[in-house]
Amino acid sequence: MSDAQETHSLLTWYDHHARDLPWRVSPSDRAVGVIPDPYQVWLSEVMLQQTTVAAVKEYFLKFVRLWPTVSDLAAATEEDVMKAWAGLGYYSRARNLKKCAEVVASEHEGQFPSTEAELLKLPGIGPYTAAAIAAIAFDQRAAVVDGNVERVLSRYFEITEQLPAAKVPIKAEMARLTPSDRPGDFAQAVMDIGATICTPKRPACALCPWMNNCKARQSGTAETLPRKAPKKTKPTRYGFAYVLRHPKNGAVLLQRRPPKGLLGGMSEVPGTEWSESRLEKQNFENAPAVRPWRKTPGIVRHTFTHFHLDVEVLVAEATDDFVPGPGQWWSAQNEIDEEALPTVMKKIISNAFEFS
Ligand code: ADE
Repeated sequence: MSDAQETHSLLTWYDHHARDLPWRVSPSDRAVGVIPDPYQVWLSEVMLQQTTVAAVKEYFLKFVRLWPTVSDLAAATEEDVMKAWAGLGYYSRARNLKKCAEVVASEHEGQFPSTEAELLKLPGIGPYTAAAIAAIAFDQRAAVVDGNVERVLSRYFEITEQLPAAKVPIKAEMARLTPSDRPGDFAQAVMDIGATICTPKRPACALCPWMNNCKARQSGTAETLPRKAPKKTKPTRYGFAYVLRHPKNGAVLLQRRPPKGLLGGMSEVPGTEWSESRLEKQNFENAPAVRPWRKTPGIVRHTFTHFHLDVEVLVAEATDDFVPGPGQWWSAQNEIDEEALPTVMKKIISNAFEFS
């Protein structure tokens, strides 16, 4: 089959099987002239990097409810944006999101530029996001390559080089295959095939519109592709966290993390450094008060990109005369869900609530 026929068969498959996603204009709506909102395309693509579609949906809906346009987002406080992002991870994306919104609002009159080259100049927009916005929102013939596309194309063409080297031929094949008519739907069709049919394990080849010409299916190598360098084992770090409760209302003492670095600008409970070796003894250096701290049962484990973290949680009640230090505040129990708390801190606080 020719490339044009393969492209056509994929778009026909998409017309019937496209996933219904809150940021997506369905193929039938597009056919009657509905145009995607570049702001929503951008927002969803930034959120979808490193995060699953299932996790992104509710955050996406919350963001467009709170900030319906890019100018609304630009006018929001960074604190409110971090609060709304809390739990999605990779917090530098949220800070860049806000910066990008400000640039679009102030330098582009609230309208996203429509070419890959212009989009690439915006904060937080890399080659993937620029191509995705250009193709999906502006119908530009840009080659969009994410992890799903890498899997589908490495199998279809049986590209056996390891990633990341394989990215070069994969991008070249995607650039060649992407049609000038409906390039955004084409990209999303390949992504949907990757997410629903051409899965990492046990791909459902019988359902795939590309099954007849897929080289990896013919040679039985689909599940082995794309090849990846073996994963490095993640080290574990160790720390203590101090959950100080208000003596009258049970509020929790929080503070802000420094603006740069891991979880930069997010909120936290006070704690020790996260050390590379298991701490023999509790370290009270960063404890917010001298109190009889009680250790909760168990350990809170959280996995970051580069390490696992094991945290032991200590709980105490503050004395009546305790005054929060600079940059610290009491967060009432019914307000804690609104704080800019990363998932690891939410786990630590629930562990403390369970046992105190
Ligand atoms: N993953 C990242 N962007 C996507 C999109 N637009 N559609 C489906 N999956 C995606």
